Amino acid sequence: MASIKIFDTTLRDGEQSPGVTLIPEEKLAIAKQLEKMKVNVIEAGFPISSDGDFNAVKMVAENIHDVEVAALARCNKKDIDRAWEALKDAAKPRIHVFIATSPIHLEHKLKMSQEEVLKKAVEGVKHAKQYTDNVEFSAEDAARTDVEFLAEVFEAVIDAGAKVINVPDTVGYIVPTEYGKLIKEIREKTPNIDQAEISVHCHNDLGLAVANSLAAVENGATQVEVSVNGIGERAGNAALEEIVMALYTRQDYYDLDVTQNTKQISRLSKLVSNSTGMCIQPNKAIVGANAFSHEAGIHQDGVIKERTTYEIMDAKTIGLDHNKLVLGKHSGRHALRDFLEKYDYRLDEETFKSFFKRFKDLADKKKNISNADIFALLDNELYDYDKIYELEYISVLTGKGLLPTATVRLKKDDKIIQSAACNGDGPVDAIFQTIDELTGMEDIKLISYKIDAVTEGKDALGEAFIAAEIDGKIYTGHCSETDITEASAIAYLNAINKYLVYNS
Ligand code: KIV
Ligand code: ZN
Repeated sequence: MASIKIFDTTLRDGEQSPGVTLIPEEKLAIAKQLEKMKVNVIEAGFPISSDGDFNAVKMVAENIHDVEVAALARCNKKDIDRAWEALKDAAKPRIHVFIATSPIHLEHKLKMSQEEVLKKAVEGVKHAKQYTDNVEFSAEDAARTDVEFLAEVFEAVIDAGAKVINVPDTVGYIVPTEYGKLIKEIREKTPNIDQAEISVHCHNDLGLAVANSLAAVENGATQVEVSVNGIGERAGNAALEEIVMALYTRQDYYDLDVTQNTKQISRLSKLVSNSTGMCIQPNKAIVGANAFSHEAGIHQDGVIKERTTYEIMDAKTIGLDHNKLVLGKHSGRHALRDFLEKYDYRLDEETFKSFFKRFKDLADKKKNISNADIFALLDNELYDYDKIYELEYISVLTGKGLLPTATVRLKKDDKIIQSAACNGDGPVDAIFQTIDELTGMEDIKLISYKIDAVTEGKDALGEAFIAAEIDGKIYTGHCSETDITEASAIAYLNAINKYLVYNS
């Protein structure tokens, strides 16, 4: 049975979402989860764009073995050389080159003729080909390009050695029937098309990215480019979870095998939203908090009688058994290790030791521990980077008629930095002011701060999300703890730590 290749661009196009900066360690944690999900290609970044992106692609390339790792480059030698430099140790590298082909881009952005673009596209593919056979070519803004010219470019780049040709709807303009027709015409008009895979890459400006991608699949596309939770430039890209679950749920219609591990979807979605600070709307298809809830009495009654009356998917298929109580106060190391192994997490001895301690601390405070609690704790440990500052102690004095005051003790390079107490408008402001003073980072602009509960119940873990602007860039921090003042302080410190690591 044929299947569709899933090319994930969360770490490249997804990271181009406004206000998102991922440090290499976060990118690697997401890449490892994508590997568990069994996507076919992970696009890890655009190495020429910054040293941070170069390092991230390199780190992903060196540590991901089962999945192809792609890096983006414009059709010029400098970009392609830099992409290869980052990719060269990958088990399965792919260079992804692109150039715009639409009249609007040629006239206003590139100021080039069609002949010049065609020449540059071929040169780019040939240069990339010297490094690897696995070259993908994208015609940026293909959806607004004349199909005759597109076919000419695709024929030439396939002759030059491109193994995949991508047809992006860069600005999210096209509609499904039109896009399906475009793919069909490309197949008919490109004589050597049988020597390449057809890929599609859709943006969601009109909310049509998933529908367009599926229309393309019906017309012969065999690779779909997606991002987790649909994040990406402007309104984002086609959402990975929606494409995979549409193909899985409607296998009867598409007649295609789904080779991805759908059970990883829920974890992956949470990991991406925690790391990027981009929260998921409750009614978001597949991964929104309400995606499997029923409000109407008639629906609830129907589902109790027979789930399929109102549910087309089983929540377990996407790994959503969040509220299942799994472990408790008396669970030991073995039980915790077994749990982690069941979900394919293998922590090294040192990380496991600290994780076990955190688990025990939580079990002392909370009677029953669910899957969601353990994953929330785990997300605190996943980024294996040397944090510059760690929280040692925090106390906050607040109340009606009191001036909120925080006392914080931090650890830096094994040395303790004790604060004098700082006041603030409220307890959280007092915590952040104290941390600013201790770290000497007094120009931090708080962009957003959110608190949420990981599970239901008054004893639930609290999650804090921070987005802070430091030196003109936005850094996010996240932490789950039973005490929300502690979670807030750690999340804030994490944003600072990321800034320091990224800029060191
Ligand atoms: O949207 C787009 O055109 C892109 C290409 C670089 C593939 O992201
Ligand atoms: Zn894009």
